[in-house]
Amino acid sequence: MTTIAIIYFSGYGHTKLVAEAVKEGAESVDGVEVRFHTAEEAKDAIESFGDVDGIIFGSPTYMGSVGAPMEAFFDASSKPWFAQAWKDKLAGGFTNSGSPSGDKVLTLQRMAVLAAQQGMLWVSTGLQNETASPDYDGPLEQGINRLGGYLGPMAQSENKEPSPSNPPQGDIKTARLYGERFAKAAKRWGSGTL
Ligand SMILES: Cc1cc2nc3c(=O)[nH]c(=O)nc-3n(C[C@H](O)[C@H](O)[C@H](O)COP(=O)(O)O)c2cc1C
Repeated sequence: MTTIAIIYFSGYGHTKLVAEAVKEGAESVDGVEVRFHTAEEAKDAIESFGDVDGIIFGSPTYMGSVGAPMEAFFDASSKPWFAQAWKDKLAGGFTNSGSPSGDKVLTLQRMAVLAAQQGMLWVSTGLQNETASPDYDGPLEQGINRLGGYLGPMAQSENKEPSPSNPPQGDIKTARLYGERFAKAAKRWGSGTL
């Protein structure tokens, strides 16, 4: 069995919808199980991730980076860092914010640096921006990777209640496809030989 942890923070529920889509995608791959935790829960159980094959971090972009509970979780990960407990695991991340850009890429970069400090291997989206194709004639907000996040999936939510269209379905599809890609990569990496 391949095991993936999804560790997310969501202040108002929008990023949680993205996290659930990543989970759904990962669980669509046979032989993969997902542990789904908030950053707050995960911080209190920081020693329990030594046996997972990969960790996906998820956070809204708050003031141009991850939200404080995710940063607190990252600080707590200095314990596994000392033991090199996450070394050679796969890592990935996703974010969501209010503006189309909103400096989301800095959030993903923050996560990728943490992963690098831990000696982890980062999984990109591998998804082209569907709406950039001259053949795409659907609604922009339904396009896969419409925000062009290659380091990790990006989503954009209006400052209204989370709903099936907030964040939009294109961003949810993107998150689902990322979960699937990450799970396939973890399965392949876990069964690989040195
Ligand atoms: C403290 C705070 C800081 C924020 N900073 C940014 C930002 O830097 N860029 C941006 O585009 N949106 C920003 N936003 C908007 C949130 O990213 C957006 O509302 C997001 O959907 C919240 O996700 P959540 O419901 O999972 O908390 C900020 C919101 C809050 C509350």
